[in-house]
Amino acid sequence: MSLKSQRAEMNPQRHSSLRQLLTRWVVLPLVMLLVASLAATWLIALDTANDAYDSQLLDPALAIANNVMVQDGTLRFELPPIALEVLRVDAADRLFFEVLASDGSHAVGNGRITPPPALPVLHQHLFYDSLVDDRPVRVAALRAGSAEVPILVLVAETYVKRDRLVKDMLIATGIPATLLALAAFLFSWFGIRRVLQPLDDLRDEIASRSPRDLAPVSEGNKPGEIRPLVQTLNQLFSRMQAAIDNQQRFIENAAHQLRTPIAGLATHSELARRREAPPELRDLLDMIASETRRTSHLINQLLTLARAEPGDLHAIERQPLDLHALGSQAAQQWVPRALAQNIDLGFELEHAWTIGDPLLLRELLANLLDNALAYGKQPSPDNSTVATDEGTSGKVTVRTRSEDELVVLEVEDDGPGIPEADRPQVLERFYRRPGTPGDGSGLGLAIVAEIARRHQATLALLTPASGRGLLVRLQLKRLVLADRPAD
Ligand SMILES: Nc1ncnc2c1ncn2[C@@H]1O[C@H](COP(=O)(O)OP(=O)(O)OP(=O)(O)O)[C@@H](O)[C@H]1O
Ligand SMILES: [Mg+2]
Repeated sequence: MSLKSQRAEMNPQRHSSLRQLLTRWVVLPLVMLLVASLAATWLIALDTANDAYDSQLLDPALAIANNVMVQDGTLRFELPPIALEVLRVDAADRLFFEVLASDGSHAVGNGRITPPPALPVLHQHLFYDSLVDDRPVRVAALRAGSAEVPILVLVAETYVKRDRLVKDMLIATGIPATLLALAAFLFSWFGIRRVLQPLDDLRDEIASRSPRDLAPVSEGNKPGEIRPLVQTLNQLFSRMQAAIDNQQRFIENAAHQLRTPIAGLATHSELARRREAPPELRDLLDMIASETRRTSHLINQLLTLARAEPGDLHAIERQPLDLHALGSQAAQQWVPRALAQNIDLGFELEHAWTIGDPLLLRELLANLLDNALAYGKQPSPDNSTVATDEGTSGKVTVRTRSEDELVVLEVEDDGPGIPEADRPQVLERFYRRPGTPGDGSGLGLAIVAEIARRHQATLALLTPASGRGLLVRLQLKRLVLADRPAD
């Protein structure tokens, strides 16, 4: 594993989805930009409001300063009461004023206003923020009077007008900015979805495949950024396919190589059994003969399975065929064994044309018949149901028919059957139900399932209408009348 992927695995945060990652990189900066722009607007609005109203605040300060007289070193204040009233009244804000003598003492005024931290020079003014009666105010401070008797005129005004202006400006810029951010968010959300769509499509395309489908993914309609990923994926698929082909070839070669010596072993052990031999030796020879038979069966099953598997090695042969013919051939081949086993092997065959590989379908039917004849007459492995009594014949039926768009091949027996819970498992390779008699290899139904898959057929293990035994049903696509040879 590469260092990068190791690190990514150690850090689970790296696994967060691309969609989340993109959203985070779009939404977070958008929100930050919005907050920053609102903060900037607020500061500018505050500045603008102060600029607009500060000069207005200076006028009453100048008026007051003009009406303060210094006579004989004392301050006299000559503002008419009506002017004072005008001063105090404002549509929105409250106004306060105070005149401080040169020693900082309160000379006249309608409020106590904290003087500025640094006094302005004579005949100059400044503005600052302060509190009157615990209310925030904006103050104009004007240094007036003469060099000998300087005075400080303070005029303070509450913040109502200014706050309103700031609020108005914030709304005027904030609403369009928020709408813009929202629109940008929506566009990027849909953009992200559009951008990631090809990845979603690729995921769906791969997820909808059967696990055995290693055909390359088409690159044609994929965007340039995703094409290298698809190419890498296709390279991986082709390497996997090569590995599977190798494995198949190996199994096939090994089975082929083993076939001849095993056949020789079978012949020789048979010959040996025909000779006079002491009983201990005879038992041993019987065992050798039976194990040889078993090995030979396993090799044949392995070969069939390797041939049934998809891969470049064995292309499935597709040709029109009638299941009726398949059943008739099976009848000739299997009736003698059924008779020997005292089993009533019946065939209910109707014409049923389909497209398929005759050899593989013959193998499929052979495995189903082998099972039906081998297990159909046996008590169930768990002994809970006892099949047809010894002596009375078991019944096995092979059926073929056409149903609308499908053709059906059925093999039914009246033996112990397979409990529903075990049905998926018996399709696995090398699985035999505990207690199953005989020396099967557990590959028969795996071969059947593989052949069904290669024909895109539906395979079902069912309980027959009688309630006992096993009914294996294979449904294949029907070949339409116009395409097939005459019956
Ligand atoms: N008709 C049947 N009735 C009852 N049990 C069955 C029947 N067919 C299959 N089984 C059960 O399913 C198991 C798997 O069957 P499968 O044909 O795959 O393997 P096998 O018959 O044991 O070996 P092989 O077919 O390779 O000789 C069997 O061992 C048996 O327990
Ligand atoms: Mg079998």
